[in-house]
Amino acid sequence: MEPRAAAPRRLIIAITGATGAIYGVRLLQTLRKLGGVESHLLISSAGWLNIQHELELSREDVHSFADVVHSVRDVGASIASGSFATDGMIIAPCSMKTLASVAHGLSDNLITRAADVTLKERRRLVLMVRETPFNLAHLRNMTAVTEMGGVIFPPLPAFYNRPATIDQMVDDTVARVLDLFALGPAIAPAWQGLNNPAQ
Ligand SMILES: Cc1cc2nc3c(=O)[nH]c(=O)nc-3n(C[C@H](O)[C@H](O)[C@H](O)COP(=O)(O)O)c2cc1C
Repeated sequence: MEPRAAAPRRLIIAITGATGAIYGVRLLQTLRKLGGVESHLLISSAGWLNIQHELELSREDVHSFADVVHSVRDVGASIASGSFATDGMIIAPCSMKTLASVAHGLSDNLITRAADVTLKERRRLVLMVRETPFNLAHLRNMTAVTEMGGVIFPPLPAFYNRPATIDQMVDDTVARVLDLFALGPAIAPAWQGLNNPAQ
């Protein structure tokens, strides 16, 4: 029997309607820069509202950063099935509404279906949740996703890296998220200790 070809590396990126659309966009741009990973993009209606409000990017611009673009309504797409191999999924940013759907297994659109598939196939699912302050439903939903194996990764800046610009803050966070997928050598610089002169 012929040896099976290695599965292509694929990552699903979903942008939902929480503030911070830049995180999803920067993830796509970083994957494109690194190369070797096929990106699959999903954007909810509210995600589009925020892209228009927060970023000076057209629909075409955002689509051009991804290798494959899916409609959120297309629940028959490749990524709706566990038989389509991926390295996992990042929802960036993740609204409390999408968090709730994922926590309760409501596969009511392709974002929540793909997240459900990612969890059932025991692949890595990272939710860059964004809301403040949290109510008890938000906290319970984050607990439920964590219990199912998902990773709750709120995009909180690490001031110990002394970011000088918003771009740097976003890049630092995106590097940490991508490193969770071990797609190649670590992108985020490793902390060397407080007393290290290089720090
Ligand atoms: C400008 C703007 C900012 C928003 N920011 C947040 C937010 O930070 N977190 C959140 O959970 N929802 C936020 N929302 C509300 C969500 O967009 C709304 O709940 C929506 O139904 C989410 O749908 P989706 O998860 O399908 O994208 C915001 C909405 C708008 C218009």
